[in-house]
Amino acid sequence: MSDTSFTPRVFSGIQPSGGLTLGNYLGAIKRFVSMQDEAYETVYCMVDLHAITAKLLDPKELHYNTRELAAGFIASGISPEKSILINQSQVPEHAQLAWIFNCIARMGWMSRMTQFKDKAGKNAEKVSLGLFAYPALMAADILIYHATHVPVGDDQKQHLELTRDIASKFNHDYGVDFFPITEPVIEGAATRVMSLRDGSKKMSKSDPSDASRINMTDDVDTIAKKIRKAKTDPDALPSEAAGLEGRVEARNLINIYAALSEQSVDQVLAEVGGQQFGTFKPLLAELAVEKLAPISSEMARLMAQPDEIDRILACGAAQAREITAPILKKTYDIIGMVS
Ligand code: AMP
Ligand code: TRP
Repeated sequence: MSDTSFTPRVFSGIQPSGGLTLGNYLGAIKRFVSMQDEAYETVYCMVDLHAITAKLLDPKELHYNTRELAAGFIASGISPEKSILINQSQVPEHAQLAWIFNCIARMGWMSRMTQFKDKAGKNAEKVSLGLFAYPALMAADILIYHATHVPVGDDQKQHLELTRDIASKFNHDYGVDFFPITEPVIEGAATRVMSLRDGSKKMSKSDPSDASRINMTDDVDTIAKKIRKAKTDPDALPSEAAGLEGRVEARNLINIYAALSEQSVDQVLAEVGGQQFGTFKPLLAELAVEKLAPISSEMARLMAQPDEIDRILACGAAQAREITAPILKKTYDIIGMVS
């Protein structure tokens, strides 16, 4: 349980590594938006320092991606009035605390991170030290705000367990109760949106097949076509969730429908059970277009005003540092750094 003496505060981040998918939207951003109106302070971040861990990006591309992601956040409903919106590199305390956490986290813990193993593959000798240290920077992102709650998709669970381990070890080693034990918030019908071409793989912006994902910037026809072509099985849809057992593609499309329409899987199946995919897919396409088209047109409008985006991020960074600077100062004091 998180310590109740900490201010309820939400932190989450997304990498500006190019393009936002329906997976990011349903697994993360939708929840970011709803948490703004609950009893939390909310801080949302474009994690640009993480975006260069897998490979160095073209500087122009990183710059563009960061603004585009900010536009995606705002167009989805994140309000700079209600939330602090930042890019990570403008708040230097993230990287400063990450160094301390590099000295807290153990090599053995880091070696067990499945995302590292997946990304490094057989090439572990050739990947950057930053890719290995990635989860310590992520822990710093969260704990430099003393964040108590972190909304993410299912794939980030292990990194959040590591964040708790780092906080506990720091508190224990220095005999303090300084960092909160953060709660992951992994909720909703679509915490793991799967590829439209292969129901066993996560929908991802890095999948070589564009048909495998819905991008937030896809136009109406593209969205409809991708859903029409999505892999399915020949059977009709069941009327209850138990009937989705072993039918990964069917389950994925139903989960997407449920998340977009804000219903439970059982509610959706009560409505569409018995239908063939030929009937259900156009309904799903219509719903996806209805929810996503306004976001993508708003993103395009915002992207035409890059100065306004930069202004919002600069203002976010100033607000953020009012929280992060004192927490870093206190951390250094605990450790014994002379100031
Ligand atoms: P990333 O794009 O890897 O920086 O992920 C940003 C956020 O989106 C994280 O909270 C992820 O867990 C979430 N996310 C990414 N892909 C998916 C997916 N296919 N399904 C659900 N959540 C996802
Ligand atoms: N690792 C996350 C991802 O790839 C992004 C991230 C970086 C993050 N720092 C974070 C998410 C802090 C939540 C909190 O999806």
